[in-house]
Amino acid sequence: MNSVERMFVPAQQVEDRLSNAGTWETGTTIWASSEAQILTCARVVDETHDVKSFEFRVGDGTPVRFEPGQFMTVSASVQGQTVQRCYTISSPPTRPYLLSITVKRVPGGTMSNWLHDNMKPGSQLRAFGPSGSFTPTAAPSAQKSLYLSAGSGVTPLMSMTRASLDLGLDRDIVFVHSARTPADIVFRKELERLVALSPRLRTFFLCEGIGNENDWPAPTGRLTLQLLSQWVPDYAEREVFTCGPAGYMNAVQTVLREGGHDPAHYHQESFNFAANATADAAPAATAAPKCDAFQSQETFTVKLSRSSKTFTMSATETVLAAAKKAGVAIPSSCSQGICGTCKTKVLEGEVDMKHNGGIREREIQKGMRLLCCSRPTSDLVLEL
Ligand SMILES: Cc1cc2nc3c(=O)[nH]c(=O)nc-3n(C[C@H](O)[C@H](O)[C@H](O)COP(=O)(O)OP(=O)(O)OC[C@H]3O[C@@H](n4cnc5c(N)ncnc54)[C@H](O)[C@@H]3O)c2cc1C
Ligand code: FES
Repeated sequence: MNSVERMFVPAQQVEDRLSNAGTWETGTTIWASSEAQILTCARVVDETHDVKSFEFRVGDGTPVRFEPGQFMTVSASVQGQTVQRCYTISSPPTRPYLLSITVKRVPGGTMSNWLHDNMKPGSQLRAFGPSGSFTPTAAPSAQKSLYLSAGSGVTPLMSMTRASLDLGLDRDIVFVHSARTPADIVFRKELERLVALSPRLRTFFLCEGIGNENDWPAPTGRLTLQLLSQWVPDYAEREVFTCGPAGYMNAVQTVLREGGHDPAHYHQESFNFAANATADAAPAATAAPKCDAFQSQETFTVKLSRSSKTFTMSATETVLAAAKKAGVAIPSSCSQGICGTCKTKVLEGEVDMKHNGGIREREIQKGMRLLCCSRPTSDLVLEL
């Protein structure tokens, strides 16, 4: 099964839904994913010892339309380099005046540490508009949902949960969140409060260890089929939304497959921390099955039209990874063909691109490509 292909719908479809007045919020502004706006930090909330939420006004305070589960791409100058990263909008679209992102401080991470150390009320940040199709509108007729998250993967599911409750949808939601220890559970108090308000929302927390919480009442360890069956006996009937580190999501998929859950009702989003770090040396998480070109030892030349730089690369690498290795700075964020940050015009030559909705058909027709998920099949000239 290629769940990644299934979970993402083309950007155009998302845009169509967003421009439809019957979505989450009317009277709000559509902030395009290609449009930069200035965010002004209104509040910073300490969620756990290493997770903070940052609440922002967008532009002059205009209410913004988006769908629960979508992300925005923030951009900052860190040590003289422009860095861009995607962050899920953890607030719900039902609260369109103040958009929040909830960021885990990643040891050694560029943007997460910069945000934690620099964002204060009144600080400003550049960002590109909401994007992504990991949202419940991907399954509008689902009566029962199962949200499975780990670590900071809680954020899109939190936006979905908050939206559902704000709208009084009274959806049947079971939210199973995994964390390292009880102290690492993001939004724990709020989720407990929401459960008390809504009889159709149930939450289960699963921690690897108890940390300092000696009276932790729940099981410890990782999610197993036995535990899932005990907590959510009707899991097979539920629309599943999963977000967390790649290893967690692989484990979840194995558990669900063993339990006979229909993959057509499975959606996932990866935050893919490692891919940014390793200069995209690893293939994008959504890499297609190996084709002949991937197995070949062929090398190609890539020429940059504006800077006149040239480098050679193997057919097995993504253009973004090879450019970074060659010391060419190309803006990038998700490394998965989702966010559109690395969109670049290919002036000459061909690439094999496997994207995940971060580019529209009309942009492809104009010669644009996402370099993080494109491998060359000939020499290239890029508009860079
Ligand atoms: C769609 C989407 C939504 C997301 N939503 C959220 C969210 O809601 N909350 C959230 O916290 N995150 C979210 N992320 C992840 C986020 O975009 C960043 O990837 C994350 O914050 C880490 O970025 P960073 O710049 O701090 O770390 P990076 O600088 O990208 O580094 C990541 C890791 O790599 C290591 N590293 C860095 N450089 C090197 C090197 N040269 N060699 C070896 N290791 C290195 C770092 O130590 C660190 O462990 C999301 C990602 C996506 C794609
Ligand atoms: S970096 Fe996000 S689409 Fe390429």
